[in-house]
Amino acid sequence: MMTKQIETHTLREWLEAHQPVTVLDVRTDDDRTQWAIPGSLHVNAYEALRNGQPGALVDLVIPADRPVVTVCNAGKVSQIAAEVLASRGFDARSLTGGMKAWSLAWNAADVPLVDSSVRVTQVRRTGKGCLSYIVASDGEAAVIDPSVTPEVYLDIAQRHRWSIRYVLDTHVHADHLSRAGALARQAGAMLLLPPQDRARFAFFPISDGERIRVGSATLRALHTPGHTPESTSYVFNEAAVFTGDTLFTNGVGRPDLHADPDAARARARTLFKSLGRLRQLRPEIMILPAHASEPIAFDGQPVAARLGDVDAWLVGWLSSESAFVDRVRSRLPPTPPNFVRIVDLNESGDFPTSDATELEAGANRCAVT
Ligand SMILES: [Fe+2]
Repeated sequence: MMTKQIETHTLREWLEAHQPVTVLDVRTDDDRTQWAIPGSLHVNAYEALRNGQPGALVDLVIPADRPVVTVCNAGKVSQIAAEVLASRGFDARSLTGGMKAWSLAWNAADVPLVDSSVRVTQVRRTGKGCLSYIVASDGEAAVIDPSVTPEVYLDIAQRHRWSIRYVLDTHVHADHLSRAGALARQAGAMLLLPPQDRARFAFFPISDGERIRVGSATLRALHTPGHTPESTSYVFNEAAVFTGDTLFTNGVGRPDLHADPDAARARARTLFKSLGRLRQLRPEIMILPAHASEPIAFDGQPVAARLGDVDAWLVGWLSSESAFVDRVRSRLPPTPPNFVRIVDLNESGDFPTSDATELEAGANRCAVT
């Protein structure tokens, strides 16, 4: 029997359209806790399926009136699961490429802002939780921290008749390969990065306090080092601030990647000051970070929070510098997989098409929460 397959883009469309479908994750408990497709069911049947045990999935109770999509890490064991379910009469398909391929699935959400003269769309890699943005005013647009294929941003811009003038990164990313250079080239836009000696390719530096015009709106650079030395936030018309991996809606950036313990402590102190700078912005301003800590649901809800709301917990974290440094250093998540290679590629500006998904697979680990 031929196993039916489903491509990630089709599953993405089904979920976005709220089409009835059961997504059945058959990976191990360990893999499941790393990251998962929102709304999916989990049955740890990985070993049983791989070993051809006849009882695998026999206790499973799922609706018979809708397709079931089976998911594993790379799309092999999920084929066995789909065959087992098909033999029991289900319309079962295996997700081609598994979670590795799903790592590139994305969706978009509009961000509501107090300033109606500007538009912000959040483009999210649903599996990894990477958040990127296209901001617009009066027919012009800028893209911040692009993390999915350039065509996604070009399509959004084209649909709204926006012309992309600028592409910016908040910092040298460690969790995903930056698409900023590729997008800038394809869009004919200027590539803007914080001043630094890390990137080994041509870019226009945007320094603390510098402003660029996007239509009739202003994007202002606010240097917020700590997570990395060059980390910079961008304030859009004082209505939204793109904080990169400096400040999240529920945590702060980790200061320890590429740093020995002393350097990490110094960076945590720098981060403390940067967070104090961000707290000076108006309470209504929308905090828009570069990633979420959980895979993102297909709910159209942006991952965002007003500074005033974030400040409810942040003020406690910042009550003293030494307590902040201790807190951050005691809660560091495990080092992200492949970050040395990803950082090296992001510094070189090369984009390896062959093993990009392999490198990027896995959860985001840039935050302390
Ligand atoms: Fe980062």
